Amino acid sequence: MLELRVCIGSACHLKGSYNVVQAFQQLIEENALHEKIDFKSAFCMKQCGNPGVRVSVNGEIHHVMADTARDFFTAKVMPLA
Ligand code: FES
Repeated sequence: MLELRVCIGSACHLKGSYNVVQAFQQLIEENALHEKIDFKSAFCMKQCGNPGVRVSVNGEIHHVMADTARDFFTAKVMPLA
Protein backbone atom coordinates (compact mmCIF):
# COMPACT_ATOMS: atom_id res chain seq x y z
CA MET A 1 0.00 0.00 0.00
CA LEU A 2 1.31 3.41 -0.94
CA GLU A 3 1.99 5.70 2.01
CA LEU A 4 1.02 9.32 1.40
CA ARG A 5 1.52 12.02 4.01
CA VAL A 6 0.84 15.76 3.91
CA CYS A 7 2.48 18.00 6.47
CA ILE A 8 0.02 20.06 8.47
CA GLY A 9 2.65 21.77 10.61
CA SER A 10 2.24 25.53 11.00
CA ALA A 11 4.58 26.56 8.14
CA CYS A 12 2.96 24.16 5.68
CA HIS A 13 -0.48 25.14 6.93
CA LEU A 14 0.29 28.73 5.93
CA LYS A 15 1.41 27.51 2.48
CA GLY A 16 -1.92 25.76 1.87
CA SER A 17 -1.69 22.25 3.30
CA TYR A 18 -5.45 22.28 3.91
CA ASN A 19 -6.05 22.68 0.16
CA VAL A 20 -3.54 19.95 -0.67
CA VAL A 21 -5.28 17.57 1.76
CA GLN A 22 -8.67 18.43 0.22
CA ALA A 23 -7.40 17.87 -3.32
CA PHE A 24 -5.82 14.50 -2.44
CA GLN A 25 -8.93 13.32 -0.59
CA GLN A 26 -11.08 14.26 -3.57
CA LEU A 27 -8.79 12.41 -5.99
CA ILE A 28 -8.66 9.30 -3.81
CA GLU A 29 -12.45 9.38 -3.74
CA GLU A 30 -12.84 9.99 -7.49
CA ASN A 31 -10.46 7.18 -8.38
CA ALA A 32 -11.59 4.74 -5.65
CA LEU A 33 -8.06 4.45 -4.26
CA HIS A 34 -8.91 3.96 -0.58
CA GLU A 35 -7.65 0.39 -0.65
CA LYS A 36 -4.39 1.33 -2.35
CA ILE A 37 -3.32 4.53 -0.61
CA ASP A 38 -2.73 4.98 3.09
CA PHE A 39 -3.34 8.72 3.34
CA LYS A 40 -2.73 10.66 6.53
CA SER A 41 -1.67 14.10 7.62
CA ALA A 42 1.64 14.45 9.41
CA PHE A 43 3.32 16.93 11.69
CA CYS A 44 6.32 19.03 10.75
CA MET A 45 8.76 17.14 8.51
CA LYS A 46 11.57 19.54 9.46
CA GLN A 47 11.81 21.05 5.99
CA CYS A 48 9.74 24.15 6.51
CA GLY A 49 12.13 26.49 4.68
CA ASN A 50 11.45 25.21 1.17
CA PRO A 51 8.58 26.50 -0.94
CA GLY A 52 5.32 24.58 -1.03
CA VAL A 53 3.77 22.04 1.28
CA ARG A 54 5.82 19.00 2.35
CA VAL A 55 4.37 15.82 0.96
CA SER A 56 5.86 12.38 1.53
CA VAL A 57 5.23 9.56 -0.98
CA ASN A 58 6.53 6.26 0.39
CA GLY A 59 9.00 8.26 2.45
CA GLU A 60 10.24 10.40 -0.43
CA ILE A 61 9.80 14.12 0.28
CA HIS A 62 8.29 16.49 -2.28
CA HIS A 63 7.13 20.08 -2.12
CA VAL A 64 3.69 20.69 -3.54
CA MET A 65 1.95 23.97 -4.26
CA ALA A 66 -1.74 24.03 -3.36
CA ASP A 67 -2.79 25.03 -6.88
CA THR A 68 -0.87 22.17 -8.52
CA ALA A 69 -1.79 19.47 -6.00
CA ARG A 70 -4.07 17.67 -8.45
CA ASP A 71 -1.37 17.57 -11.13
CA PHE A 72 1.16 16.31 -8.59
CA PHE A 73 -1.19 13.53 -7.52
CA THR A 74 -1.83 12.45 -11.10
CA ALA A 75 1.85 12.47 -12.03
CA LYS A 76 3.57 11.22 -8.87
CA VAL A 77 1.05 9.32 -6.79
CA MET A 78 -1.36 7.59 -9.19
CA PRO A 79 1.34 5.66 -11.10
CA LEU A 80 2.58 4.14 -7.80
CA ALA A 81 -0.85 3.24 -6.42
S1 FES B 1 5.67 22.67 8.92
FE1 FES B 1 5.74 21.33 7.21
S2 FES B 1 7.83 20.76 7.12
FE2 FES B 1 7.70 22.00 8.88
